[in-house]
Amino acid sequence: MDKESILAQATAFARDVLEQDSSGHDWWHIHRVTQLARTIAHEEGADPFVCELAALLHDIADEKLNESEAAGLEKVRAWLREHEVETDESAHVMEIISTMSFKGGNGAGMRTLEGRVVQDADRLDAIGAVGIARCFAYSGWKGQLIHDPEQKPREEMTAQEYRHGKSTAVNHFYEKLLLLKDRMNTEFAKKLAAERHRVMEEFLSRLHGEWDGKM
Ligand code: ADP
Ligand code: NI
Repeated sequence: MDKESILAQATAFARDVLEQDSSGHDWWHIHRVTQLARTIAHEEGADPFVCELAALLHDIADEKLNESEAAGLEKVRAWLREHEVETDESAHVMEIISTMSFKGGNGAGMRTLEGRVVQDADRLDAIGAVGIARCFAYSGWKGQLIHDPEQKPREEMTAQEYRHGKSTAVNHFYEKLLLLKDRMNTEFAKKLAAERHRVMEEFLSRLHGEWDGKM
């Protein structure tokens, strides 16, 4: 099968599996990440086919949608085999997806340029205007509050309190989203991230102001 047909089939597959998701991994997340991956790949001189295919399949293995991480990865591997993706490209895509799904980030970085591109694309979709929207959508799905100014700082919470969803949407900005701009791999993504970061800072400062009726 030629590369264009493989990408078209992967698009249909991702759309079919993730169409109904409301936890922030819906099909449109995949669509945005794939578009970003294509743009960054072009700017950074990465292999566009591997980047696009990995972006399209990157959330199929998510543990929320599968019995286990391993079962999810097996689903992707089976798909690549059925669609006769070349052995080295298939192995490369599997490496990217498995590294991304292991909550990583702090551990070993992505080994290849294509991995760094797809990881940047996924992280960019968690910040900026879209990132703000996804954070609140996810929080609603989980039953978290928008914000709780009386909440204890995380260091003072017991593990129990933390686990039982005492976090809020606004908290997630401080514990993760505002840290992402410094974790971009490629120069092109760093530029996009800086702009998206400013959008979040502006949003948070407005939110805190409006919270106390000062704006
Ligand atoms: P991905 O694997 O696509 O990077 P995650 O599974 O970590 O994303 O999260 C999906 C979306 O939900 C992201 O936009 C993220 O910011 C948001 N999210 C994840 N955890 C939380 C949380 N505890 N509170 C609010 N939003 C969250
Ligand atoms: Ni994702």
